Amino acid sequence: MTKACVIGWPIKHSRSPMIHGFWLRQHAIEGAYVKCAVEPDTLADFLGNLERDGFSGCNVTVPHKEAAFKLADVVDDAASAVQAANTLWLANGKLHASNTDIFGFMTHLEQSAPGWNERGRPVALLGAGGAARAILYGLNQAGVKEIRLFNRTKSRAEDLKNFYDHGVSVVDWSERHEGLEDCGLVVNTTTLGMDGSPPLDLSLNKLPEDSVVADIVYSPLETPLLAAARQKGRRVVDGLGMLLHQAVPGFERWFGVRPQVTAELRDLIVADLGE
Ligand code: ATR
Repeated sequence: MTKACVIGWPIKHSRSPMIHGFWLRQHAIEGAYVKCAVEPDTLADFLGNLERDGFSGCNVTVPHKEAAFKLADVVDDAASAVQAANTLWLANGKLHASNTDIFGFMTHLEQSAPGWNERGRPVALLGAGGAARAILYGLNQAGVKEIRLFNRTKSRAEDLKNFYDHGVSVVDWSERHEGLEDCGLVVNTTTLGMDGSPPLDLSLNKLPEDSVVADIVYSPLETPLLAAARQKGRRVVDGLGMLLHQAVPGFERWFGVRPQVTAELRDLIVADLGE
């Protein structure tokens, strides 16, 4: 029986077992996908023993993504670009690593807002953490020419710009409202708007009418930012699609079937989120 898991610290709230469990049942695969709570100082041991413990691989979540990237034997381009891994698998005794968050975000964006980059306009990216780094790379790969990066702590945005430097300009956090002018897409990668955090204070008045607003926060599913954007008639892209789509490549690696992100799967997770 093929076995995979998701590791993090804490790991209690991970929805990954529900996603992979759905696909295992759907495809009648005799496999298992479980949660493993792994303390940071035991990560190297855990990964070193993956094969012995019967795992084909695992997903990696907070706070292990950077450490997992460093511990892998073989890393792909996406993981190298972001210096962080969320999907690991064993092949010929070696630990391979990828970062499928980028694929997850970009696939969901394409599906929810087809043609989002047709006019080649700038993109406004809010936040400069690990998620922003992944999305910045994805946007670069998709051919975005100008990215305006806004972050409360400007030095973090500058670090990110120095890491990529492809058409990224760092703009003061206080200028985020005006800075949306001419943008075709706005992406919130900060934690603002998440349950328990204050909403993101962002005026959409300068944002062109045919632009797209994306949020990576999925709890709540409709953040105050997305509600405001919808009310103003903008196309919106929620954070749940990224979570669902990032799981696809890992499942295919471990269990040998490329699964689909269906409305039924989405409804299952939405119900679990209590929406
Ligand atoms: P992740 O790796 O998941 O992206 P992170 O590294 O903790 O998470 O980043 C969280 C992001 O939310 C950061 O951009 C953070 O801004 P700072 O770099 O200034 O910390 C942003 N953020 C969190 N709380 C915020 C707040 N109250 N106002 C503005 N930005 C906030």
